[in-house]
Amino acid sequence: MKALITSGGRGTRLRPLTHTQNKHLIPIANKPILHYAIEYCVEAGITDIGIVFSSDSDAVPQAIGNGKSLGARITYIPQEAPLGLAHVVKISQDFIKTDPFVFYLGDNMVVGGLKRFIEAFHKHKSNCHLTLARVKDPERFGVPTIKGNRIVEIQEKPEKPKSPFAVSGIYIYDKTIFEAVNAIAPSPRGELEISDAHQYLIDKGYKITYSEITGWWKDTGKPYDLLEANRLILDNMTETIDGSIDDRSIVSGKIRLGKSSKIINSTIRGPVIIGDNTRIENSYVGPFTSIYDDCIVKNSEVEYSILLKECKIIDVDIRIEHSLLGNDVEIIKAQGKPATHRFLIGDQSRIELI
Ligand code: G1P
Repeated sequence: MKALITSGGRGTRLRPLTHTQNKHLIPIANKPILHYAIEYCVEAGITDIGIVFSSDSDAVPQAIGNGKSLGARITYIPQEAPLGLAHVVKISQDFIKTDPFVFYLGDNMVVGGLKRFIEAFHKHKSNCHLTLARVKDPERFGVPTIKGNRIVEIQEKPEKPKSPFAVSGIYIYDKTIFEAVNAIAPSPRGELEISDAHQYLIDKGYKITYSEITGWWKDTGKPYDLLEANRLILDNMTETIDGSIDDRSIVSGKIRLGKSSKIINSTIRGPVIIGDNTRIENSYVGPFTSIYDDCIVKNSEVEYSILLKECKIIDVDIRIEHSLLGNDVEIIKAQGKPATHRFLIGDQSRIELI
């Protein structure tokens, strides 16, 4: 079995974080989103992985490399233009050949990995196995119509969804998907839609089965949704402590503490992940917080937040909560007079004051 993972798209919904990086490379619980997809595949025994990237940027191949450190062998497949998910499958036929494969949209995350879906695909001898998640807003997704135990129709972003389910971005196919992606025509928005390929398989009488999943996340709206993905991952993480915690600190719940990081005279309430070479001093770090490498939190309080590389929160009197800080962001107490708030903020940033 092989895997095909997408990593294109402009990530407009995750601005400003995506002004400087591909959304698939944004760390969640201190690991790029794309790493999860690769790890889930490797964990399910799939090491031969194709990653489709948009040919105007080599950020993904640069960041992920040949996959060796993750136990995978990665082949990069350039896509010249964003012509739809079925187009991604179509241009990957040379890589997949006739093998069954997992098609994984790289901006999706799922707790619990892929094994159970792959087993269901084999057990039912399916041509296509879909994963469905119950959501509040199915109109944003591909939506199945289910009769009895069978999917009888799939509509892409329907105005009036016929079920409360979204087709999530994890699909398992055999080679019949290539017949479908080669037969369908572009949609009104000019893309080859994956839902049209699924509908083709249904119309031709191929076997489509599904599993219902929980613990699924995808960026559907605001950047703050990343905090929800962060919560899902931290809720399920295991503890490792490589850095040091001094006697005056109080740590409860699960924490991960990276190499050369120090917790000094602080209270940490997990689940919390702290990367390498980060210093937490005279501070409080609350549940569902991810702090990346080379950060400093001093005389401050932070909870339910994500801090990327080299952030500094120093001498801040208010608790920082429900916040996302990009790379090299500083929130520090203003010095001198007049005593005012001062901002130096890039495009499409957001500040909420009380
Ligand atoms: C795509 C698919 C949609 C699916 C979704 C899952 O939507 O077209 O059918 O439900 O991925 O992530 P898009 O993210 O392109 O809006």
